[in-house]
Amino acid sequence: MLDLFPATAAIEGDELTLGGMTASALAAEFGTPLVVLDEQTLVARARAYRAAAPDALIAYGTKAFPNVAVLRLLADEGLGADVSTLGELEFALAAGVPAERIVVHGNNKSDAELARAAEVGAGLVVLDAPDEVERAATAGIRRVLLRVTPGIEVDTHASIRTGHAGSKFGFTPETAIAALAHARELGLEAAGLHVHLGSQLVDASAGWASIAWLAGFASVCERETGWSPAVVDLGGGLAIRHVEDDPDPSIEDFVAQILDRVQRGFDAHDLAPPQLVLEPGRSVVGPAGVTLYRVGVVKQAADGTRWAAIDGGMSDNPRPQLYDARYTALLANRASDGPTATYSVAGKHCESGDVLIRRVALADPRRGDLLAVPATGAYTLAMASNYNGVPRPAAVLVRDGQARLIRRRESVDDLLAVEVGRDEGRSG
Ligand code: LLP
Repeated sequence: MLDLFPATAAIEGDELTLGGMTASALAAEFGTPLVVLDEQTLVARARAYRAAAPDALIAYGTKAFPNVAVLRLLADEGLGADVSTLGELEFALAAGVPAERIVVHGNNKSDAELARAAEVGAGLVVLDAPDEVERAATAGIRRVLLRVTPGIEVDTHASIRTGHAGSKFGFTPETAIAALAHARELGLEAAGLHVHLGSQLVDASAGWASIAWLAGFASVCERETGWSPAVVDLGGGLAIRHVEDDPDPSIEDFVAQILDRVQRGFDAHDLAPPQLVLEPGRSVVGPAGVTLYRVGVVKQAADGTRWAAIDGGMSDNPRPQLYDARYTALLANRASDGPTATYSVAGKHCESGDVLIRRVALADPRRGDLLAVPATGAYTLAMASNYNGVPRPAAVLVRDGQARLIRRRESVDDLLAVEVGRDEGRSG
């Protein structure tokens, strides 16, 4: 179980510690729910990408955990940022990510997004649709990639597949060739091609198929238009382990295979090897994160289900509802106690589907205990909502016995601040 937690996780006495701090001390200082990111794990995973592909641009998939402190830390490690909205672009800029390392995405970019990307000199803008070519040129964008949709199905949840034939993302191969010609006519620098197949890809073979496909497509482009990609951006997608029976794919192997397959694919078509861009999100930040919750109600239903309710739920982690995601958990304040029974972990939201974990063996959870859920650094807080008027959690970075607040907890006042006419009904 501890191996699902970040690298610094340990059990000292009876307590789970992260980055040298006990879960209880973290919860006492910052409250719960709390997203704890282990800096050492985050940096190690960023370095693993950089070491495996020193010549590539590693553009962190900001959407996995959009946070200024995290983006800054990763930028210090030489990473860039893949951003998919104006908001994410501003996060990357606020973090000081050098503009030339920013890759701007979006399947429906607004004029404001294109204009801002041009204004700050974003290194690459990834065009996604035929009408974007002209709009990008008008906005003053200089260097672009074209996102192509290879029509490959991958083995992941349908909501997070992107490269299949019916995808809302990218150009079809035919429209991409026309768009390339158009981009060049308009004076855009068409630097290369982009493919992203999906996320949480456990079986990498679809990824390999897409590289072979891309090399073939590059050679078609060369034959038909005399143009071939100088840059190839393969998106993100490497899976992480959430529960004990999940596989644990390695960054080193994944990237080594990519490099080898790109080289072989391009060699096979007598094309010069392209410069590579990778956009990992989940595999950088996911395993670094642990969410701490406080246990409240513990009770048994008529059918025997043992419920342990926590002070968060689908508002801070909607992945079980959206993707049938599975998680596991440990009682952080009694971490060395053996499990006594199987529990279902429920959130505090007003619907029966608000179940974070269907079945997990826990050591007799009681009100006031702390529940630690590992592998929750990616796409949890990033997709959090204020459902049921619940403020979103805080996040901290831990390292060497110190915790640094990197996102403050919202308050109910924060939620009321955007309500119009909120004072009219107040008596006091
Ligand atoms: N590049 C592009 C163009 C993407 O669309 C994505 C993710 C990434 C990179 C990063 O992929 P990663 O390395 O994180 O798999 N909310 C979903 C995941 C959505 C992924 C969207 N695109 C989830 O919670 O599983």
